[in-house]
Amino acid sequence: MALQDIGNRQTAGVTLRRLHKSFGAVEVLKDISLTIEPGEFVVFVGPSGCGKSTLLRLIAGLEEVSAGDVFIGDTDVTEKDPSDRGIAMVFQTYALYPHLSVAQNMGFGLKAAGRPKPEIAQKVNDAAAVLQLTDYLDRKPGQLSGGQRQRVAIGRAIVRNPDVFLFDEPLSNLDAELRVGMRLEIARLHRELGITMIYVTHDQTEAMTLADKIVVLRAGRVEQVGAPADLYEDPDNMFVAGFIGSPAMNFFPAMMGNGGQIELGGSRIPAPVLSNPPAPGTPLTLGLRPERYQIRTDGPAPHGLTFQVEFTEYLGSSSYCYGTIGDGLACTLELPNGFRPRRHDVISLGLDSQNMRIFDQSGLRIR
Ligand SMILES: Nc1ncnc2c1ncn2[C@@H]1O[C@H](COP(=O)(O)OP(=O)(O)OP(=O)(O)O)[C@@H](O)[C@H]1O
Ligand SMILES: [Mg+2]
Repeated sequence: MALQDIGNRQTAGVTLRRLHKSFGAVEVLKDISLTIEPGEFVVFVGPSGCGKSTLLRLIAGLEEVSAGDVFIGDTDVTEKDPSDRGIAMVFQTYALYPHLSVAQNMGFGLKAAGRPKPEIAQKVNDAAAVLQLTDYLDRKPGQLSGGQRQRVAIGRAIVRNPDVFLFDEPLSNLDAELRVGMRLEIARLHRELGITMIYVTHDQTEAMTLADKIVVLRAGRVEQVGAPADLYEDPDNMFVAGFIGSPAMNFFPAMMGNGGQIELGGSRIPAPVLSNPPAPGTPLTLGLRPERYQIRTDGPAPHGLTFQVEFTEYLGSSSYCYGTIGDGLACTLELPNGFRPRRHDVISLGLDSQNMRIFDQSGLRIR
């Protein structure tokens, strides 16, 4: 039984046009426009309070927009009730009915909608098979693990045959190991269903691994939209550069020098190729990912950049090393396995200008 055989599955894209949302005098979403293609897996990320859940709830119809339009497929659903939008939503707290069995919980919405019993049983059995819940259909939620309960909540959404799936931090109540397992389950579900999924998280590993497209939100605005690798390699600003990636990108105060060089921590290093290079003397911020360097064992680097070790966190497959470069600029490096420096060791670094990201003083990327 393949998932796509459950019901007459179809999917729809989602278009948001100039959405605004205020609670009283506080505007929490500001002019959000977004196109989500049919079948796409889109993840909303951003710091706590930036408006991720509110945006999802506007799409679901659980909150009214203050201005703007929501389209699901070609239909303007802005004024429609949640139940008429063809969506199903899975929340962080799965709110199963404790007195009902797994099967009854999964079929509850269909029963309430007056669907015939054999149809409900069929859909519940099909969803249970793909979610590996067949052996648990007669159990009560209290007799399940956290991961199994979350699968029941997802099953309850699947049986409704939605055009679009919405998830709001569905895994944040699970322990680390279960989260990884469920993350793979959700990826598989998306692959098999081919259905549009919009997924809210503040876990950037979930965002990077699940998304076709990530939407980075900050204080109610979209900062950047792109594929995970685009955001990682080509961020538009310091916020996105610092938010995506762990350990975070290093930022160093620097200055544009003469002759295509950048002055950094008392050294001069070749600047990356920029289409709009700032004038010499312009202050800027240089961004460097913790893994984008070479360790030079053949003596000092040509541009004299050295890293002085302060402390190291051993992680098994690699280590994070905290210290300083140049004349005391804080820096984090990810070191390969087998390389375990001691405090006060000095490492010569080779930096490749292609790996540097340059930002102006307002935090915007200079390309
Ligand atoms: N019903 C409400 N009334 C007033 N303010 C609200 C309401 N719901 C949300 N807010 C405010 O809107 C902002 C966005 O909240 P939202 O729940 O969307 O954030 P979030 O990005 O999902 O955060 P988290 O990662 O903590 O879940 C917050 O400042 C929050 O306090
Ligand atoms: Mg939230």
